[in-house]
Amino acid sequence: MQNTRQLIGSSGLVDRRIFTDASLYQQELEQVFGRCWLFLGHETQVPKPNDFVAAYMGEDPVLLCRDSKSKLHAFLNMCRHRGNRICRADAGNAPSFMCTYHGWTFSTDGKLVGVPGYKEAYFEELDRSQWGLVEAGQIDAYKGLVFATWDKKAPSLKDYMGDMAWWLDLLVDRRDGGTEVLVGAHRWVIDCNWKFGSDNFSGDVYHTTVTHGSIRMAGITRTRVTHYEQDRHTVNPGKGNGYMGAYVGPGYNPSMAMAQPVMAKYWQDTLPELEKRLGEIRAKQGSIGVATMFPNFTWHPGPMVRVWNPRGPLKTEIWSYCIVDKNAPQEVKDEMRKNLTITFGPGGAMEADDMNNWNQCTMSGKSMTAAKYPMNVQMGLGHETKSETLPGVLSPWPSETNQRSFYNRWAEIMAAPSWNDIAKT
Ligand code: FES
Ligand SMILES: [Fe+2]
Repeated sequence: MQNTRQLIGSSGLVDRRIFTDASLYQQELEQVFGRCWLFLGHETQVPKPNDFVAAYMGEDPVLLCRDSKSKLHAFLNMCRHRGNRICRADAGNAPSFMCTYHGWTFSTDGKLVGVPGYKEAYFEELDRSQWGLVEAGQIDAYKGLVFATWDKKAPSLKDYMGDMAWWLDLLVDRRDGGTEVLVGAHRWVIDCNWKFGSDNFSGDVYHTTVTHGSIRMAGITRTRVTHYEQDRHTVNPGKGNGYMGAYVGPGYNPSMAMAQPVMAKYWQDTLPELEKRLGEIRAKQGSIGVATMFPNFTWHPGPMVRVWNPRGPLKTEIWSYCIVDKNAPQEVKDEMRKNLTITFGPGGAMEADDMNNWNQCTMSGKSMTAAKYPMNVQMGLGHETKSETLPGVLSPWPSETNQRSFYNRWAEIMAAPSWNDIAKT
């Protein structure tokens, strides 16, 4: 196991090899994706007993399903016999999963309930109770969003999220009835390391001016030409999490600027309900914001939630979901879906801008010469402030405080033998 601490400098320098090194990648699968809480889907995707939907935890294919008594489970999508997948569908409803190789069959609570030839070929000697599906160590939901971890000893989801939940409420707790995801997930593979997506959405206000300049000129968004704002801050809620969009004065609202008029009006009209639910301080934020919860769960006022699934050090499989208030009018939901597709879908204008940059940045770690020069995330170092009213450390808009936090947390978790060796904040 490599000591990753030396790869991330305390002054905001990052060794580029963390994006390309194959042995570090294997260590990541174990240390990060094998232990952290990971997003699996939304409760509304599996409303009834025996509903299931496919997901990933790192590179592990997983089924999020409800058993016949409606209890949620996250199972490794692997038959315990030879290892075939027990389910090839993306979503559905089934009382059991029969493996298509030799026919072992598992109930939706994970038990091995059918073995062809159990009497004749196994002589009833196979202990079926030992050969049920592999199940996640813990599963829990936060206001409709379902997360799981392989690690039984990981802190609870609530502790893992910490202050990040306060900010996430601006997406998932705006209205009575909660949220739902529409249709299913957009899924596609891009040529970059997964950490670039997490990094970017955790706090990269800085890139929007240049990277997304063309779509602003084309009138697809109404974002500002520059992003040096006094009334907005990036927020670091701790634990490697990052949020951008905190509001401390009158004026500009990035969520509204990115929205189509129907969406902007809807958010404006529902502000009184938001204030009733979440209080004046959060209602004043107005904005849903953009954020990454460590390691690979992101949200955005697209409106979307998404996961950056690792596929080797040089590839990332994005799973992106359109998330809306359940009680929003259909016209608003339709507009949100369209808005997300044209901005951050697989062919989205903003998405294409981002992907190309991350691809090049990743490949610098492969260049013999470039890899000797560290990546720089020093912006705003030493200019962090504590807010009286908002949870987390505030930094200027823009700054790279959240990226420093993300990479430091990564290095810490990569090196830590157990959760006892990982900071609680
Ligand atoms: S691999 Fe599933 S029954 Fe043999
Ligand atoms: Fe971007």
